Amino acid sequence: MAGSVLEIKNLHVQIEGKQILKGVDLTIKGGEFHAVMGPNGTGKSTLASAIMGHPKYEITEGTVHLDGEDVLEMEVDERARAGLFLGMQYPSEISGVTTSDFLRSSINARREEGDEIPLMKFIKEMDSALDFLEIDKNMAQRYLNEGFSGGEKKRNEILQLMLLKPEIAILDEIDSGLDIDALKVVSKGINKLRDENFGCLIITHYQRLLNYITPDHVHVMMQGRVVKSGGPELAQRLEAEGYEWIKEELGIEDETVGQNA
Ligand SMILES: Nc1ncnc2c1ncn2[C@@H]1O[C@H](COP(=O)(O)OP(=O)(O)O)[C@@H](O)[C@H]1O
Ligand SMILES: [Mg+2]
Repeated sequence: MAGSVLEIKNLHVQIEGKQILKGVDLTIKGGEFHAVMGPNGTGKSTLASAIMGHPKYEITEGTVHLDGEDVLEMEVDERARAGLFLGMQYPSEISGVTTSDFLRSSINARREEGDEIPLMKFIKEMDSALDFLEIDKNMAQRYLNEGFSGGEKKRNEILQLMLLKPEIAILDEIDSGLDIDALKVVSKGINKLRDENFGCLIITHYQRLLNYITPDHVHVMMQGRVVKSGGPELAQRLEAEGYEWIKEELGIEDETVGQNA
């Protein structure tokens, strides 16, 4: 079976009456890694949250389809079951739920009732992913993200990603706050998933992550839109020259959204 397709068309999003996204078009297919880059405040996280169905984000125009199904009509849990995954910029702490229980429930939520993952199989898969990501085994028994360092939270997002095996993942600043060793481990986890049935949208402010994960397509967001797209060479140019040249080329003075809107 070929991979899934996530199709975002002309997406407009408001938060509390403020227009943040002003027409985003993006198509991510199984097997493809896309990077969305851009300065702070240009709407990157809003894009991620809107696709996953955060209630604060109101879609005022445009469509999101996963394999032809209308994602915007789905509840958040339905989006996850349909194969979408969001790795968050600021993962929430959930007291009272261990990481291990959370992972098992999440896996089972994507499976049919009566077809839950056998406990031993789950433990085996979790242990091997913990090993691969060089995460201390004790972490699985701690409450989800509670007291985790920034780096542990991000590794934990990738742990979820590896175990849940979504069709399409959106990773929001998975690299922020990571030291170089953690960055390498996180990248190793994402690269391991690369195959024709897995598509990934990697949101990042810095080019650094893209030294370890080579994107097939690079998009730059400004003012709530994708203003430029290219291949991996675009990310390299941004690393060398920053974002100013794009602003000059396009006549953009203030790249952010929301302030004056
Ligand atoms: N939850 C929110 N409530 C109010 N305004 C928000 C919220 N999230 C984002 N915004 C606004 O949207 C703009 C874009 O934010 P965001 O999508 O987080 O940008 P990025 O991820 O590119 O830094 C911000 O400048 C802010 O004004
Ligand atoms: Mg952000």
